[in-house]
Amino acid sequence: MSNDKYSQLHSKSRTIKDLLSIPTGLPVWERDVLARHILKLSPEAMFLENEKLIDESTFELLDQLVKKRISGVPLSYITGLRGFYGHDFLVNESVLIPRPETELLIDLVLDFVSDHDRTAYSFLDIGTGSGNIIVTLAKQIGSSNVPHGFYAVDISRSALNVAIENTQRHDVTDLIVFSESDLLASVSESDNPFSKPLPVIVVANLPYVDLDKKDFLQSQSYGSELTHEPDTALWAADSGLELYKKLLVEVGSIRRSLTVTNATYCFFEIDPSQKNMLYQYLENHTDAQDIRFTKDIAGHYRVCGFRF
Ligand SMILES: C[S@@+](CC[C@H](N)C(=O)[O-])C[C@H]1O[C@@H](n2cnc3c(N)ncnc32)[C@H](O)[C@@H]1O
Repeated sequence: MSNDKYSQLHSKSRTIKDLLSIPTGLPVWERDVLARHILKLSPEAMFLENEKLIDESTFELLDQLVKKRISGVPLSYITGLRGFYGHDFLVNESVLIPRPETELLIDLVLDFVSDHDRTAYSFLDIGTGSGNIIVTLAKQIGSSNVPHGFYAVDISRSALNVAIENTQRHDVTDLIVFSESDLLASVSESDNPFSKPLPVIVVANLPYVDLDKKDFLQSQSYGSELTHEPDTALWAADSGLELYKKLLVEVGSIRRSLTVTNATYCFFEIDPSQKNMLYQYLENHTDAQDIRFTKDIAGHYRVCGFRF
């Protein structure tokens, strides 16, 4: 919509209702999210207060954000927020926008520990991004009175900064130890979950989109997250399994270096097409046991769980 048309409508109307009556070219729900973001109102408040007067700058700002969205910038990068497991997480261009299917990882870990003493594990999130996984687990399981730990690593310093902000937002800062690390390379020797006398639950949503399909997928998905998110959060060589295979080698060598080892339980998010390849790798190159694949809500194999 042209600025002229905006100011024309604006000169006649100054309420929230009028703001929401202007056609934008976006789906109504996206327009409403942007309007609520500017007005800092809940959906209920925006509905109840729709006769409230608003000033011209609100109309101009909505126009700018609509244009940004139409140019392809993901909605969550514009609002700076994304919901995950019932809570809002801060996001920016340094991190992957959390996906609904990743909530399955949380369900599986919570289910796994529900039959046991929840405080008797260490939790390690590899490739933490916005921190959505480890922060959610710490919120659900953590207790400041109990000596068990939550650990998270990411290769990206700027992603870790977002994760740390999310720990503050969700009041779990004291429960989580973050490390800037290429997989396990820089996980501190002195404060390493594998050297504690507790089983370790490794949760990972590492980049697993097949690097060979990058050009094709980006050309097919203009305006989607895949064209705006950091490359380091998305793509991996070796049919997308490069980082998971490398991580398995590292976990194996850490476990071999310890005199006393506790069980390690792994939950990896995957692309459904990787199920058989990962199964073969685990069977032929690792000591993994009880290998299980779980389908997401759309019926696609999404998480691989196993133990050492
Ligand atoms: C798919 S994103 C997942 C982010 C978040 N855990 C989630 O579920 O939304 C993968 C994350 O892994 C990180 N990453 C990529 N390569 C890594 C590596 N070699 N070591 C540690 N982290 C890595 C990226 O920076 C990115 O934040």
